[in-house]
Amino acid sequence: MTDLIPNTPSARRPFNPLSLEGRTILITGATSGIGQATAVYLSKLGARIIATGRDETRLQMTLDQLSGDSHVGRTCDLGEADKIAVWMKQLCADHGPLNGLAHCAGIQTTRPLQAINLAYVTEMLNANLVTAFMLLQAFRLKACHHPNASAVLVSSSSALKCAPGNSVYAASKGGIISATKGLGVELIRDGIRVNAVAPALVDTPMSDRFKSVLSEDNFQRVVDMHPLGLGQPDDVAGAIAFLLADTSRWITGSVITVDGGLLA
Ligand SMILES: NC(=O)c1ccc[n+]([C@@H]2O[C@H](COP(=O)([O-])OP(=O)(O)OC[C@H]3O[C@@H](n4cnc5c(N)ncnc54)[C@H](OP(=O)(O)O)[C@@H]3O)[C@@H](O)[C@H]2O)c1
Repeated sequence: MTDLIPNTPSARRPFNPLSLEGRTILITGATSGIGQATAVYLSKLGARIIATGRDETRLQMTLDQLSGDSHVGRTCDLGEADKIAVWMKQLCADHGPLNGLAHCAGIQTTRPLQAINLAYVTEMLNANLVTAFMLLQAFRLKACHHPNASAVLVSSSSALKCAPGNSVYAASKGGIISATKGLGVELIRDGIRVNAVAPALVDTPMSDRFKSVLSEDNFQRVVDMHPLGLGQPDDVAGAIAFLLADTSRWITGSVITVDGGLLA
């Protein structure tokens, strides 16, 4: 009796359900922290990355770390929300429609209620929530996405368990969760899944700034609330990759907490 051995190229290739070969993914916030790590991580999975952020020097540093070639870097200030659609249309006219979007750009500062004003609230909501709507509205356009596309928004565990002084940020990230649930079902007809990740404290320039306003003991107390310790940007990048790849093709409108056990 002779064993028959498949000898097709696909049989020889290792099974990688997270593969993003042939996919083009736009990543906002790719100049720092989670967005930068996500760009590098997704490029290792074979994706062609379109990296964006405001800082040209750090954008170049991201591009220099990517695996593979034909990646693109383009600066964009998402603070000009009314220009996002035009920007995205031009981007897709230049580089083709996208298979995925990872919206990692965001801002965080801590201010108690008595210290906030309209400008502060507006800036936080614009940077973290309005941008998500504007990006998805443009991504939805036929010229901007391929069939079976996936969008991942970055929320925060603070939307689900909030510390004093962080409620404006938390509200902006809570809005991301509501938007994910609504748009996750609304955009099915456009062939787009929408999901979110909600990280807890992750070691990035953003958490460094948070650390700088606390005493060392108080920062350690926050870290100690996470049974698995302080998160690393790759911990979030892995969850984003899962939500962009075919591994999550039956998942939309979901939020994955990536929180080292904080909310458990
Ligand atoms: N780190 C954490 O502990 C943590 C926890 C939960 C959720 N998150 C969320 O995760 C995301 C990434 O955070 P991070 O820790 O990686 O922060 P980060 O290191 O401060 O990076 C923030 C990124 O957002 C970009 N950005 C901010 N405002 C922008 C604007 N107006 N236009 C374009 N880009 C803009 C920045 O670009 P430039 O630098 O080029 O301006 C930068 O690339 C954020 O949405 C944050 O709220 C972070």
